[in-house]
Amino acid sequence: MTIIEVREVSKRFTSKKGESEALAGVSLAVREGEFVCLLGPSGCGKTTLLNLMAGYDRPTAGGILIDGQAVTSPHPKRITIFQEYALLPWLTVLGNVQYGLRIQGWRRRETLETAQKYIQMVGLEGYEDRHPHELSGGMRQRVAVARALAVEPEILFMDEPFGALDALTRLKLEEEVTRIWQEKARTVVFVTHDIDEAIYLADRIAVMTPNPGRVRRVLTVPLNRPRDRTDLDFLRLKREIYAEFELAARPAFHYTI
Ligand SMILES: Nc1ncnc2c1ncn2[C@@H]1O[C@H](COP(=O)(O)OP(=O)(O)O)[C@@H](O)[C@H]1O
Ligand SMILES: [Mg+2]
Repeated sequence: MTIIEVREVSKRFTSKKGESEALAGVSLAVREGEFVCLLGPSGCGKTTLLNLMAGYDRPTAGGILIDGQAVTSPHPKRITIFQEYALLPWLTVLGNVQYGLRIQGWRRRETLETAQKYIQMVGLEGYEDRHPHELSGGMRQRVAVARALAVEPEILFMDEPFGALDALTRLKLEEEVTRIWQEKARTVVFVTHDIDEAIYLADRIAVMTPNPGRVRRVLTVPLNRPRDRTDLDFLRLKREIYAEFELAARPAFHYTI
């Protein structure tokens, strides 16, 4: 069943430098429980599209429906995780994860239990009393994930959440997000410019190109999880996406089936 429907959306920005057509005629349907990646180079409109879906901005033309209703503003059950760790620096890990629940008026005891459950889920038990500045980048992003999940969102929007992390931490977090997503079966829209990350995570990949921003193609990833980045089918798909971006695969890189 379709949960998010993007219909012929265009978005134009006017600034001192002139007009930019961030999105032109973008259509995309996301199914309930699906993991969709928006993949494309910098400037192709990924963040713009995510912000429109999350209700932070309005399209110039076209429309977006979630659960059949036009999106007009952010919604407490639709949470966005940004690249930079949007944690509250004066609160501890526990405080940060509890924050959203407190705002929603949860009781103290349920708030504590739920926060602890999600802290454990992202592997941060034992760090409840630390403040964000006492944590590594990867740990901070784990807190952001726990905080987002704690309010049990229907939809999770993630905008290059692991972009600032080192490669190995990033692989680990990709694994964890996959595991949590399989457990919780939430709908996820995940922005990345990293081809491997998109293939590793997504059920489907919306391949985007810039000037103006468009969804060029939507690819299904027909690979079982957990996925192996060195699997031939993985590499085959990677090659196909390289071609979409008109990037030549290295001549020395070839394989036979
Ligand atoms: N608030 C804004 N004002 C003016 N131009 C913007 C604004 N936000 C984005 N843009 C422009 O829209 C295009 C798409 O940007 P963005 O959605 O941030 O791309 P991406 O996230 O794929 O890197 C770019 O050309 C960018 O400069
Ligand atoms: Mg962006």
